[in-house]
Amino acid sequence: MRSQYLVALLPLAAFAHSFPSPHKVKEELSAPPRGWMIHSPAPVDHFIQLRIALPQPNFHLLEEHLYAVSDPEHERYGEHLSKEEVEELVAPHPESVNAIDEWLASHGIEGNIGHSPAGDWLTIRIPLSKAEEMLNTKYHVWQHTDGEYLVRTTFYSLPAAVYDHVDLIQPTTLFGRFKPQNSSLTSPIHVENLPTLVDRATGLTVNASCNTEMTITCLREIYNATGYTPSADVGNSIGVTGYLENYANTADLQRLYEDQVPAAAAVNSTFKFISVNGGVNSQNLSRASIEANLDTQFAFGLSFPIASTFYSTRGQPPFVPSLNAPTDTNEPYSEWLDFVLSHPDPPLVISTSYSDAEETVPESYARRACAGFAQLGAQGVTLIVSSGDFGVGDGDSNPATQTCMSNDETNRTQFIPGFPASCPFVTTVGGTVFFNPEISASFTGGGFSRFFSRPRYTSSLLSRISLPSFLSYQDAAVKGFLDQLPNSTYEGLFNPDGRAFPDVSAQSASFRMFLRGEVTHQIGTSASAPAFAGLVALLNDARLKAGLPPLGFLNPLLYSKAASGFNDITLGHNPGCGTDGFNATEGWDAVSGLGTPDFGKLLKLVT
Ligand SMILES: *[C@@H]1O[C@H](CO)[C@@H](O)[C@H](O)[C@H]1NC(C)=O
Ligand SMILES: *[C@@H]1O[C@H](CO)[C@@H](O)[C@H](O)[C@H]1NC(C)=O
Ligand SMILES: *[C@@H]1O[C@H](CO)[C@@H](O)[C@H](O)[C@H]1NC(C)=O
Ligand SMILES: *[C@@H]1O[C@H](CO)[C@@H](O)[C@H](O)[C@H]1NC(C)=O
Ligand SMILES: *[C@@H]1O[C@H](CO)[C@@H](O)[C@H](O)[C@H]1NC(C)=O
Ligand SMILES: *[C@@H]1O[C@H](CO)[C@@H](O)[C@H](O)[C@H]1NC(C)=O
Ligand SMILES: *[C@@H]1O[C@H](CO)[C@@H](O)[C@H](O)[C@H]1NC(C)=O
Ligand SMILES: *[C@@H]1O[C@H](CO)[C@@H](O)[C@H](O)[C@H]1NC(C)=O
Repeated sequence: MRSQYLVALLPLAAFAHSFPSPHKVKEELSAPPRGWMIHSPAPVDHFIQLRIALPQPNFHLLEEHLYAVSDPEHERYGEHLSKEEVEELVAPHPESVNAIDEWLASHGIEGNIGHSPAGDWLTIRIPLSKAEEMLNTKYHVWQHTDGEYLVRTTFYSLPAAVYDHVDLIQPTTLFGRFKPQNSSLTSPIHVENLPTLVDRATGLTVNASCNTEMTITCLREIYNATGYTPSADVGNSIGVTGYLENYANTADLQRLYEDQVPAAAAVNSTFKFISVNGGVNSQNLSRASIEANLDTQFAFGLSFPIASTFYSTRGQPPFVPSLNAPTDTNEPYSEWLDFVLSHPDPPLVISTSYSDAEETVPESYARRACAGFAQLGAQGVTLIVSSGDFGVGDGDSNPATQTCMSNDETNRTQFIPGFPASCPFVTTVGGTVFFNPEISASFTGGGFSRFFSRPRYTSSLLSRISLPSFLSYQDAAVKGFLDQLPNSTYEGLFNPDGRAFPDVSAQSASFRMFLRGEVTHQIGTSASAPAFAGLVALLNDARLKAGLPPLGFLNPLLYSKAASGFNDITLGHNPGCGTDGFNATEGWDAVSGLGTPDFGKLLKLVT
């Protein structure tokens, strides 16, 4: 709503000059993320869609509600908030709304402003020259050493009158590209002397073929979920996100079902497609993607017949400067969050297998995207993300040649955590291989965030009731791990106070999937996330059948009541940055998290 008095401030040109307050730098990268160089001036006729985040002054209250409804010992456990309640808790202050409206109007921008339902995000589409004037900056076409282009800047400024009324504006300094976490490690795994059937000490029977090829049946066998049958009609749902023009092919899904889930094949089961911001549903077989096929086939194959949704979010580098591409949108999480937070009834579990190095994402952006994940969690949605495929290191899959240099002028060596794996409001899944024993995969992303400190929960809202210590849900578990590290281990390479990940793990190698009609095998934590998400959907099935609410944000539950429902992984490590990385150990560790799910045990713990 535009306030009346603004009209009196017209004409705009005059008002623009009445904004005498000097611009103050809002955000500045000390250097562009490694690998990016200025290629050319930004094309003059380029349009840019700017997204403006207004501060959420009551976010701490949202966070308190989130913890209350996610804490299994709390009386409000499972009393998830409605979409409207969440919106009220993240709404910006009216002063901020007015200040931004005035600023935009002073630049002649009054119509065509997109508003998120809570009013905490505004979207405008303007010529780049206008953006440069408003933000007192200069955009360029940047080129990465791998050939991709982006239109970005390393700094932007705001007039003092709006400075404190803006959290961030993008795209400006965001160079992240959120790659699918399908590892380049595609070589098959060789195991000698395969037994025909393996009896775990625990009594589980797992087909020996699962040592060389992972299927839906194998996952159910290894994770003690054989024979559990979910229902289609208890209001349950599961979703998978697709970005960067990764298309999920329904014919390939049908092939996977014929191969591994005959009941789904018999009814031609398929997913509901949802386009986000113009995302396309290409069913052209030659455009089917490894990532989207892998994610849909395993998340939906494990959870059939639970209602399934595939989101395709528009936005794809490379930006081709020579084509004067009209838009240059690549902030997939905020686009997707904006959409999903605007619509009622999101899927109850959502899996995402795309990430990038935390340091290529501006901290302000990471914080707001993470806050968006918290908003979904408060509504009872479980968000599952993969932990990354480069161990403790950077995007170079050869640990020996990783530079792991910080993105500032110091060039110091440091471990490179991934985002959104490092967000404290998602459940991050690492990768394992084999079983009996199950071992952490060497490529498993794991470590400690530099942006997000470990959740330390202090309540104002709930201060009169006693608070279980696990509201700082992972603090005790992570301290145990840090305490056993040899003294001074990797000092300076990681932030021991950071949000630590992964939270849990699941198989990650030799997933038998279909691509363009053919069988192929895929490896990476990209596979682990949908596999874990599928099992969470089965747990939700049991809860809904028992008349209980869905699980929602999982972490406070995982680190407390549900911890005994995980197989502790104690073998493997995740090398990177010229080091051996962290070791899987007894209890939580920065390679396997709490371990892999024992569905049978978890079922008893959550119902
Ligand atoms: C990973 O997925 C991307 C996009 O689908 C694809 O271009 C790339 O080749 C894949 N990488 C591997 C190693 O399979
Ligand atoms: C083991 O897996 C193989 C390959 O998927 C399959 O042919 C065989 O029937 C399975 N054996 C049992 C006992 O399930
Ligand atoms: C599934 O699709 C196939 C091929 O399109 C068709 O022949 C068959 O009748 C369908 N089955 C059902 C149950 O819809
Ligand atoms: C399918 O995609 C391929 C590769 O992008 C393209 O060459 C072909 O024309 C497309 N086919 C159809 C029917 O659109
Ligand atoms: C940091 O690395 C960059 C790129 O390799 C180089 O240009 C720069 O001189 C280095 N800075 C220092 C202080 O070593
Ligand atoms: C690290 O050093 C402290 C004393 O400085 C000692 O108490 C602790 O046991 C040591 N931890 C390990 C794992 O060696
Ligand atoms: C990992 O385990 C090896 C073998 O026990 C040990 O030498 C090494 O110090 C451990 N590394 C860390 C980071 O804990
Ligand atoms: C499998 O789950 C059942 C409960 O359904 C549990 O009793 C059993 O201990 C679990 N088996 C293993 C090997 O963990």
